[in-house]
Formats: sequence, structure tokens, C-alpha cells
Amino acid sequence: MSKNPDEDTTAVLLHERRIFPPDPTIRATTRIKDWDAELRAGDDIETYWAEKARAFTWFHRWTTVLDTSDAPFYRWFVDGTTNLTYNAVDRHLTTRPDHVALRYTNEQGAERAVTYAELAHEVNRTANALIALGIRKGDRVAMYLPPCIEAVACMLACAKIGAVHGLVYAGFSTRALAERIRDADAKLLITADGTFRRGKTIDLLGVATEAVRECPSVETTVVIAHVQDPEEGHTNQNVVSYHDLIAQADARCEPEMMDAEDVLFILYTSGSTGKPKGVVHTTGGYMVATATTLQDVFDINDHDVWWCTADLGWITGHSYSVYAPLLLGTTSIIYEGAPDYPQPDALWRVVERDKVTKFYTAPTTIRHLMRFGETWPQRCDLSSLKILGTVGEPINPEAWIWYYEHIGRLHCPIMDTWWQTETGCFMISPLPISPLKPGSATKPLPGIVAEVMDVEGRHVPPGRGGLLVIKRPWPSMLRTLYNNPERYKKTYWEQIPGGVYVSGDIARMDEDGYFWIQGRADDVLKIAGHRIGTSEIESAFVSHHAVSEAAVIGKPDPIKGEIVKAFVILRGGYEGTPELTEALKKHVRHELGPIAVIGDIVYTATLPKTRSGKIMRRVLKARELGIDVGDVSTLIET
Ligand code: WTA
Repeated sequence: MSKNPDEDTTAVLLHERRIFPPDPTIRATTRIKDWDAELRAGDDIETYWAEKARAFTWFHRWTTVLDTSDAPFYRWFVDGTTNLTYNAVDRHLTTRPDHVALRYTNEQGAERAVTYAELAHEVNRTANALIALGIRKGDRVAMYLPPCIEAVACMLACAKIGAVHGLVYAGFSTRALAERIRDADAKLLITADGTFRRGKTIDLLGVATEAVRECPSVETTVVIAHVQDPEEGHTNQNVVSYHDLIAQADARCEPEMMDAEDVLFILYTSGSTGKPKGVVHTTGGYMVATATTLQDVFDINDHDVWWCTADLGWITGHSYSVYAPLLLGTTSIIYEGAPDYPQPDALWRVVERDKVTKFYTAPTTIRHLMRFGETWPQRCDLSSLKILGTVGEPINPEAWIWYYEHIGRLHCPIMDTWWQTETGCFMISPLPISPLKPGSATKPLPGIVAEVMDVEGRHVPPGRGGLLVIKRPWPSMLRTLYNNPERYKKTYWEQIPGGVYVSGDIARMDEDGYFWIQGRADDVLKIAGHRIGTSEIESAFVSHHAVSEAAVIGKPDPIKGEIVKAFVILRGGYEGTPELTEALKKHVRHELGPIAVIGDIVYTATLPKTRSGKIMRRVLKARELGIDVGDVSTLIET
């Protein structure tokens, strides 16, 4: 007996029909001119990735591109040895020593730029300081740091000597920090005296000191004087000053020979429930895939000023503020501060001043800035911008259009990149020459094989949604969960039959082969027998001129199974009147059809989000149902 397709696929409600052909100037200047040909080049994944790997310096060339014998513990570039920091910094010293590698700026307008030569100097001294503290290849080094040049130097110093870094976002609580340090069994913690946020300085050392009390593995705590002058010293006797350490350190340091599969870093991702997962990334494949994808998707060249606004504590900061841009020898901006402080044009002022050419941010930031209206970006000179990007959540078509019109001024293509902490690199994304559909991340990149499947591992044809899976291994995939290979297998590889990687997202493909992410599988609503992703309903809300952000949850209902409850943030100048509620219900129904009956709408000034800006619908739901919300150490209301 065949099952009702609604049981294990999701309904498609949103039909976004706008298509934006590539801008003629982009088409004329970009390196890749033919999308289809480029995608075809990736059909044979091993040949494709081996070809890309040749662009880097290997001390010893790999013997096998991909080893699948111990799947899902895949190995890439077997027997290859290299060093990521050598490739990201030292390699550029002969070709571009004076090119700016990093440009740090903060909300107070302070600036510091370092060239590749200066960065090499700082990285080497830091690496030698780490060695002097007893850190060796394979040791874990935890970091609880604001975005700053020293933080990047510490990451690169670890990679240079083969130590494994584990950054923890410097907004997490003592408990969250301690839990991660303990899980990674870190020997050293590097922190800072504080960080700037909205005109205040926030103490980090206090949190770090308290956390370390619960972490017996930590032998030393190093503190970077970031908000205070290093000369002023610090009063805490139990910590070592970073500036003192590197002042005495030698500026020469030989790179450690790293096996392609040696661990580069551990990064914890909270997941929706339970203990954070320590995602493990290794050296060779991560290097090749992050740099290749940045190069292709944002068409990076020598004149670019690249700005990824993510904090260094997230995978986006790791891959695309630090490793990929430096591997490509470009200039990367490191920004410390909120996007709307001191004013809602904070980001656009930096774009104007530093002549940023490629700008990459999160949909939540765009939606947040939309609330303040377009006069803020209009007052800034954004003419240096050539390509825009987003990551982190589905971008609602209206937010896409706002970004396209007011930031890209109708000629910058928007690269909507779908990927995860676990994937390491962009997976589904357009290239600059791709025709764009607002709200779609378009197609899997060359060398990436993605598909939509149902829970039994069957292909889901266009017209229905299902589980987004990756069918073949890729070089920057996570290798395991730290200390928990069983959980790695169970979470990602054993959810459905067929040995495919299950991303935890739901998506649909359209008739042109474009992917549309419908939300997280955990958040799916079940309305009158239909399984519906959150993203389409939320996008329908955001397409109303009064709405800036929306989150929907399913609320149990004795008759319908679940009814939709929406939490809505209005744009400036609108009020949540009963008339508006009626208008919104009508609007959503009009956009999505009769299934989309909205039960309740509540107006709110903030929504619960993860620190990286994702709406936490499970928190809204738990509150609604009066049940325990579980681990909310990553929660923020904004
Ligand atoms: C979501 C961030 C839609 C998705 C790099 C994924 C997206 C999760 C997109 C990973 C996108 C990321 N469109 N959804 N372009 N990019 N997501 O681990 O649910 O912080 O599984 O990595 O963010 O989040 P993470």
C-alpha cells in the first residue's frame, strides 16, 4: 500500500517567480562565465577536488584523493602533508608581503591594519609563545575572544604548530564556556580583558576566570589586553599577559608538517537539544574547499576588500573571515560591534570608508536593519560594492529585494549560500553569473552532490519538499564529533537508509533544479494533515510592508492537529491593531493559499535567537506550551 506523501514529505506553499539575470558587468568581469559547464566540471568529484588541491603548497603530495573504506569516517588527500598557516600566510610573503591581510575596525571607529608580512611576524611570535607554554601538536587550545587581529593570530599560530583550536563565542556564559573547555579537555585558555558592545565594555576575563575554576585541564590562562592599554597591566595574578609573552618570542617559526587528516579545530554547535556537539574539522580538505568556494562564489581577486560580518566564534568566521580569504591572499575585514550602533548605518559607514567590494552577512542583520528604513544606507557611498552574500537562515524574498535594491543598488548579485558548521564550506550557492531567484540558494556547487529525499531514502521529485541530504563526501566535511563517533554516525548518517549525510534541514527543488530551504526538520508544522516548513509562512509575513521579522510555531489543536501561531516584529511606524492582524491573516492566506490559516498573531519587540541570529522556534513553542525550554545557554532576545 502506498503511503500518503504528506507523511514524509513537506508541502510547497511559496511560489516565488521573480528571476534576476546576471548583471552584464559581472558577466564581463567574473572569472567563471558558464555556470552549467562549471557544474559539469564537478561531476567527477575526485578529479575536481584534486585539481583544486593543486593550487596549494603540499610538503608531500597525497596518494589517494578520497578514501571511503571506513565510511562515514571519510579521509581526503590521504598521505598528503601540508600546513594551513603556511598556505594562508607564509606562502604570500614572496608575492604580496605588503598587501593588507586584515583590517580590524570597531564600533568606536578604531582601526588597525596588518599586512601579510606583519601578520606572519605576529603569528610566528604567538606560535613560539604557545610552544614556550608547553603546547604541542594535537593539544587543544580554547579561546574566548572578541573579533580582533590577535584572535586571528592565535588561531593561525595553533594551526602553524599543529595545536587544535576551539573558539567559544565571547557572549556565552561561564557555564557554556566551561562545558566546552571540559569537553575538549583544553590545556590552555586564551581570553581578553573585554570586548566593546554598544558603547560599553563587557568583561570577558571575569567569565573566563570563573569558567577555568571548573576546568582542571587548563594549565594556563593567557589574557590579551584589548580594551585596556597593555602597559597598564592587569591585577589578576593567575593569568599570563599575551603582550608580554609575544614580546619575548622569536619571530621565526617553522611550520609543523600536518597530515591532511590531522585535526585543525573543534567548534561546538548547540544543536536544538542536548549537549553541544564538538564538530571536528581537519586540515587538507578544509583548506582546499573553503578557499575554492570563496574564490568561485565571490569571484575573489587581488583588488578585493572582503567583509564577512560573522563573529570569529562561528564557523562562518572561521572559514570565511580567517582561513579562506587569507588562503586567497585577499584583504579581510574584522569588525567588532553591533550593526546598528552608534547608528543604523554602522556597517555602511565601514563599507564606504574601507571601500568594501564583497559583503557577506546574515538575513537576520538585513531584516533588523530594514526596520530603520532605507535612508541610512542611502546616505552612504556604497558604490565600491560588487557582490553581496547571505548565510545562516533562509532569506525571505522581501529581505532579499531590500538588500538588492538598497545595498546592492540593483547591480550586485546576491549569493545566498547554504551550508553548516558541519559542512565547513558553502554547499548550495549561486555563482556570480547565475540567474537568481530571491529566497533560493540555487544549486549545489561544483563537486557537491545534494538531493531531496524522504525518510525512507527515496528521491523526492520537484513539487514536494523533504530532507536535504548530501550524497557524496566533500573535502571540508566534519570528520566526527569530538569524543563521540557514535553520535556522529547516528546524527548525520543513520537517519535514513542509503549512507547519505542528513543535514537536518528540509528543502524542495523546483523544476529548474533550484533548491529552496524550508526550515529545520525539527520545526516542521503539521497543519490539517500537511507538513509545512516554517520558512515559507514566515516569508509570507515578511512580504507585508508592516512586518520586519516573523517566527511561526505549530500549537496543538484538538481539531486541526496544529494551528499556526505567529510572532511578529513590526517595522518602524506600524502598530499591532486588530485591523492589522486581520490584514496580515488575509495577506498570508493570499500569498500561500488556503492551507495557510493563521490561528494567532502576537506582536513582539524581540524574538529569541541564537547568538548567531537564528530564530529559536523551540523556545517560543516551549514557552507557549509551558514546558521546560531545555538548554538556553545560547539564547538572546533581539
Ligand atoms: C541554516 C552556518 C537557508 C540551515 C553556516 C543550516 C540556511 C544552519 C542558510 C546551519 C541559507 C544556513 N538558507 N538556511 N543560505 N545557511 N542556513 O551551523 O538551517 O550556524 O542547517 O552554519 O543554518 O547553521 P550553522
